[in-house]
Amino acid sequence: MANFVYIATSLDGYIAGPDGELDWLMNYPNPEKSDFGFGKFIKKIDALIMGRKTYEKVLSFGTWPYPKPVFVLTSTLREIPEHLEGKVELVNGDLRSIVNDLNDRWFKNIYIDGGQTVQSFMQADLVDELIIARIPIVLGGGIPLFGKLDHPQHFELVDHEKFKNGITKTSYRKKK
Ligand SMILES: NC(=O)c1ccc[n+]([C@@H]2O[C@H](COP(=O)([O-])OP(=O)(O)OC[C@H]3O[C@@H](n4cnc5c(N)ncnc54)[C@H](OP(=O)(O)O)[C@@H]3O)[C@@H](O)[C@H]2O)c1
Repeated sequence: MANFVYIATSLDGYIAGPDGELDWLMNYPNPEKSDFGFGKFIKKIDALIMGRKTYEKVLSFGTWPYPKPVFVLTSTLREIPEHLEGKVELVNGDLRSIVNDLNDRWFKNIYIDGGQTVQSFMQADLVDELIIARIPIVLGGGIPLFGKLDHPQHFELVDHEKFKNGITKTSYRKKK
């Protein structure tokens, strides 16, 4: 049972440009058509908890890409499109209670996605593994992956992969 973050950042730690731009990530050359282990990762998770802004970004792509249930963290959305019924649920409230409820529903391994969302989960000490793909670009500004914490959190290196196109992927597990 664990909560995972799997995310791509710039070298300076941004997950999107200032207005949510993802062109630097989506258009980054990938001649080998690698999925950077994302397919394998998604198989081992049971559900996603995603921030409302990330959800809206994914919706704008047109096709719904997730084969697992997605729980959208929001205090503003009230409904989901008909075609996502059974695939998406809206959730709100205390993060630990949300995770406990999902664990009770047999969603044991959870993928946490979205900038503010990851920061909220980090602040609540609810992130067990960080898998960070680094794109060799310095954006100079944007939406940061990490924010302030009350105290430092220690992680240990689990794995590191280097891809031919210059992307690296590093996995860390929270130290007990
Ligand atoms: N590089 C990558 O791999 C990657 C991955 C994911 C996303 N992104 C990008 O990151 C951007 C979105 O990130 P973001 O930081 O702006 O937002 P986000 O985390 O996706 O969504 C933020 C929203 O989630 C809800 N939320 C977050 N924490 C909450 C809490 N504790 N309780 C209740 N609701 C909470 C709120 O929705 P309400 O306002 O409705 O209450 C909040 O406005 C997009 O551009 C997306 O494409 C990039």
